[in-house]
Amino acid sequence: MSVWRTKSIEQSIAEGDEPEYQLKKRLTALDLTVFGVGVVIGAGIFTVAGRAAHTLAGPAILISFVIAAICCGLAALCYAEFASTIPVSGSAYTFSYATLGELVAWIIGWDLLLELMLGAAVVAQGWSAYLGVLLDRLGIIIPESVAYGSSFDLPAFLLVAVLTVLVSIGIQESMRVNLALVAVKVFIVLFVIVAGIGFIKSANYTPFIPDAVPTEGAGSTLEAPLLQTLFGLTPSAFGIGGILAGASLVFFAYIGFDVVATTAEEARNPAKDLPKGILGSLLICTILYCAVAIVMTGMVRYDQLSPEASLAKVFEDVGKPGYATLIAAGAVAGLTTVVMTLLIGSSRVVFAMSRDWLLPASLGKTNARTGTPVKITVGIGLLVALTAALTPIGKLEYMINIGTLTAFFLVSLAVPVLRRRRPDFDRPFTVPFSPWLPWLSAAICAYLMLTLPLETWIRFAIWMALGFGIYFAYGYKRSRLALGAHEDARASVPSKPAP
Ligand code: ALA
Repeated sequence: MSVWRTKSIEQSIAEGDEPEYQLKKRLTALDLTVFGVGVVIGAGIFTVAGRAAHTLAGPAILISFVIAAICCGLAALCYAEFASTIPVSGSAYTFSYATLGELVAWIIGWDLLLELMLGAAVVAQGWSAYLGVLLDRLGIIIPESVAYGSSFDLPAFLLVAVLTVLVSIGIQESMRVNLALVAVKVFIVLFVIVAGIGFIKSANYTPFIPDAVPTEGAGSTLEAPLLQTLFGLTPSAFGIGGILAGASLVFFAYIGFDVVATTAEEARNPAKDLPKGILGSLLICTILYCAVAIVMTGMVRYDQLSPEASLAKVFEDVGKPGYATLIAAGAVAGLTTVVMTLLIGSSRVVFAMSRDWLLPASLGKTNARTGTPVKITVGIGLLVALTAALTPIGKLEYMINIGTLTAFFLVSLAVPVLRRRRPDFDRPFTVPFSPWLPWLSAAICAYLMLTLPLETWIRFAIWMALGFGIYFAYGYKRSRLALGAHEDARASVPSKPAP
């Protein structure tokens, strides 16, 4: 048995039509774009952008945003080609199962889980922080023992619990809630841009690229970017290096457009609508982010920017505390949608894996009434709620970034492979200049990964080792492909998990 065994595209598509595993096909291009914007705009722009400008890049954070957008844009083209060619649940996981083989597919699915579940947990914690600020402004104090940053973050736990129930009830209902919250969030971001323009002082843009300075605590090899450790360089902030380090941090702000591809089976017309949803949401977010970066660093000098809740704080600094309260409220609403969408995405990845029996098959059955995989959704919700409540606030963004960049890297490499192996397949959307553009995409992802800290690489290696352990102990022997069960399964789906 080979770990490189691939699953044909026809198999993937046929399984999506099996009644017991079927998701309802209700989403339009607009739904998908809203879904994308809903997950992409979040803690990245509300908190990470200010921190990155303050500590790494200064006003040139604008360039960091553009670099990260180029990386994501190239990967998004690859995702769009795959999603339109193989419109089944599971996103990058399913694409690689058809091209690079079962082991790579498992690795990608495992990475996606890291991205989506940790992402949901981190954003839930950020939500809890903003809720604390908002309630504080309204004169309500959350007891310190269960507030943000305590040993059990109760608001974050409750948020994930409530959202898990919503997602389990059914995707359309969740979409309706999502739509309202996304509208609020986009309004707040536009509000920051429009209200802030009048407060821009051009002097704040000088210097646009502050001179490079050695980073404090540079002695710690673990915290230095891997590239600098490998080449024995002194870690520095600002300057060109700071812009690149900023790009690998604000990359977090774009994460989520790929999640659109995980809902492929719920799209009405996936071939056309998925590329629109993926590329459309990325484009909208890029424009908004660049505008926010320009306004934010124009309102307050970069070294005076608050590294936390910066979008609200810049308005306090220019004497508009009422605006700041409004923005804090908007952040609370906005971050809610990110957590919800990440929860949906993670449940769909596990759904796809259990349908292939790489995880127990009984997990993946959809509930007849709700049309959603309830068991998986509740299980993931519980894990995320506990992670959000119990893990200390910290460097998880980098972990999420490394998982996502690995998936982008592999998906980019897989595009030319699938074209060579299956030239016959109908591709409603194609990446231009293949294979060069997909290869460029992979190279940029690899470069950004090398700018992540060594400790992130070590944690990531541990996560991957765990994944390999599970694969070789379970999926390697029991997957549908391993048991050669695909042919039979197409005719009738067994009601019991694989033996
Ligand atoms: N892109 C998402 C955020 O910024 C993960 O919160």
